[in-house]
Amino acid sequence: MKDRLIRFTRGVPPTESFDPDQLVECTKSVLAQYSDVVLQYGPSRGFAPLRQQLAQQNNVELQRVILGQGSLNLQDMSARVMLKPGDLVYAENPSYDRALTVFKRAGGLIKGFPLEQDGLNVDAVEASLKSGDRPVIFYIIPDFQNPSGTVLSFEKRQRIANLAREYEFWIIEDSPYRNLRYRGQDVPSIFDLAPDRVFKMSSFSKLICPGLRVGYVIAPEGMADPIARWAEDSYINSSYLNQAIVYDYQQRGWLEPHIQCLKDLYRQRLDALLKALDQHMASTATWCRTEGGFFVGVTLKANVKADDLLKRAEGANLQLSDGRNFFTHAGGDQFIRLPFCALTPDEIEEGVARLAQVVNTF
Ligand SMILES: Cc1ncc(COP(=O)(O)O)c(C=O)c1O
Repeated sequence: MKDRLIRFTRGVPPTESFDPDQLVECTKSVLAQYSDVVLQYGPSRGFAPLRQQLAQQNNVELQRVILGQGSLNLQDMSARVMLKPGDLVYAENPSYDRALTVFKRAGGLIKGFPLEQDGLNVDAVEASLKSGDRPVIFYIIPDFQNPSGTVLSFEKRQRIANLAREYEFWIIEDSPYRNLRYRGQDVPSIFDLAPDRVFKMSSFSKLICPGLRVGYVIAPEGMADPIARWAEDSYINSSYLNQAIVYDYQQRGWLEPHIQCLKDLYRQRLDALLKALDQHMASTATWCRTEGGFFVGVTLKANVKADDLLKRAEGANLQLSDGRNFFTHAGGDQFIRLPFCALTPDEIEEGVARLAQVVNTF
């Protein structure tokens, strides 16, 4: 263990969470039942039975549900449909680095708002809106946020939903970790509070496996058509075969028990991380005591520079993500995202011990 590189870099599920035998069975079954549909081109919104499942689960009309190659793909298309160069996009700061890139590439000017233990600083958001800002999109990861692990409180969700109506901006609610709560109580989604203003995005990447690349968006009324047209003109349709596999998996009742297994596996890993942080870093850092998801965001008290931190960590056989990438502008030198699902409790304990030693050198 001492010589082994520990990578606190990748927010991926562990390979032991995949169940290829189940997926072989689903693949055989969908090819037997739906080969004429899943092997053919199809309408760009995706495989209808999976869309119907999702429409039913979310209590929305079918035409509002669009499937894509993972949810990032749908974020990209939604951004391109909604934004003109120079449009303002609000985001949490820090936020998911790839989503920030997507909005920038679509011409968006990003303004970040700081996170507190219970999510966004909504007073700062309200002050900006009152001062005349007119954002087109507010990108929010309310559940077990990537990269911080924070959960947006119910009260703040209500305030954001009300602000979206008052100032007429769209919310992209990106919630791939929502079903991975290891303890505590669910909070209603922003979509539940303002379905008319919210693009609800999620995917099966963290619940079944990322390799299938199946994600979805539930768009507000009238907003699904332009996304579906964009999809059609970009790639005709996303993979019906993969979407049918996900449909079959859910139809067999396999998803819920699988999620229970994931929760049992990941809860132990989260607990190992929080324990190791308490033990090794209580005096040198602060962090969010998250109750789910994939990440704990740690903020160092020392005035470190990210380049120096990453280099010293490498010297200790430890790979870290560059915290600056998650920040909308300057900042992030002292921020470290610790993904915990793809490491064993022993690796987590050893990794945090190494991290603490590195931090103590500053
Ligand atoms: C917040 C967030 N949104 C979207 C994604 C992309 O997920 P998908 O595999 O559905 O494209 C990720 C992946 O890590 C993520 O953390």
